[in-house]
Amino acid sequence: MAILVIGGAGYIGSHAVKALAEAGQDVVVLDNFRTGHKQAVHPDATLIEGDLRDGDLLQQVFVDHSIEAVMHFAAHSLVGESVEKPIDYFANNVGGMISLIQAMKEANVDKLIFSSTAAVYGQADTGLIDEETSKAPTSPYGESKLMMEKMIQWCDQAYGIKYVSLRYFNVAGASSDATIGEDHHPETHLVPIILQVALGERDKLTIFGDDYDTPDGTCIRDYVQVEDLVHAHLLALDYLQQGNDSQAFNLGSAEGYSVKEMLEAARRVTSKEISAEIGPRRAGDPSKLVASSQKAREVLNWQPQYTDIEEIIQTAWKWHSSHPKGYQDEAQD
Ligand code: UFG
Repeated sequence: MAILVIGGAGYIGSHAVKALAEAGQDVVVLDNFRTGHKQAVHPDATLIEGDLRDGDLLQQVFVDHSIEAVMHFAAHSLVGESVEKPIDYFANNVGGMISLIQAMKEANVDKLIFSSTAAVYGQADTGLIDEETSKAPTSPYGESKLMMEKMIQWCDQAYGIKYVSLRYFNVAGASSDATIGEDHHPETHLVPIILQVALGERDKLTIFGDDYDTPDGTCIRDYVQVEDLVHAHLLALDYLQQGNDSQAFNLGSAEGYSVKEMLEAARRVTSKEISAEIGPRRAGDPSKLVASSQKAREVLNWQPQYTDIEEIIQTAWKWHSSHPKGYQDEAQD
């Protein structure tokens, strides 16, 4: 039996494919390569190029391969962009989930591991966000993921599709062997942008606002290393294989770092100056998102290995400094 990884050529999906393949699991990847990279996909995986919303193709994937469970990473995921283009986010993200659930129902596949996000909570005024914290997304992106979570809840009730929703906080870093890493076009994420400045690939970092209600005025986020995050998916797969009930889990580190603190940490890791300036706020950004991941630790027995922000940045730095232009540095197929 194989695991179908949708979006397996993307940043997080490709790390999941690598972990599954290295664990000896059969993996089928479906990706439309809108943001993914062929070079990021582990060579042992079966690669199918196509869009999740192509219902006929998806049904054929389930017919051709003996799929036991699905990991669903394929979505538009940029907070700022979603404010500008909400309909794209609802069409792609919610539309993709409708297509997926229809195909799973048709094929009698009943295990789904879903990439959700901290953005479902919106502006949380409490300290640590746990799974029961109220959900009030501040962006269409967060709203689309919350809608997807609600859809699968109802479809569990109606069709018995069991799911684990993993609400990621800020994922960062690269594989510890530096073979795969984070490469978006355009890049909007803080850690790769800072490291591109360190490498001279970009002039400076613009800090999006320093007038937030935080100690240094810049936004606080909770950074989780990508391999630690992916390990939670393997534990979630075990959890569903053991016949457990559907659940949502936060995946974060319980430690918040401001944008300025991230910049300082990156300066220490890289020993580079890294120019930065203060700019206006970015639409849709909540001031602070920090997770309690106690539930994932207790129920899934998740134990992140990276607890130090500099170690997380170090894994990213190793990949970026060996791939200063991302996957463009590697031969195309
Ligand atoms: N930031 C800057 N300058 C930049 C880029 C980012 O100041 O050039 C700031 C942002 O304003 C934010 C922080 O750095 O305060 C982190 O921004 P990212 O764009 O790296 O990440 P986001 O917090 O916006 O979003 C990420 C994922 C989402 C996910 C969210 C969960 O992209 O999919 O984490 O917390 F929902």
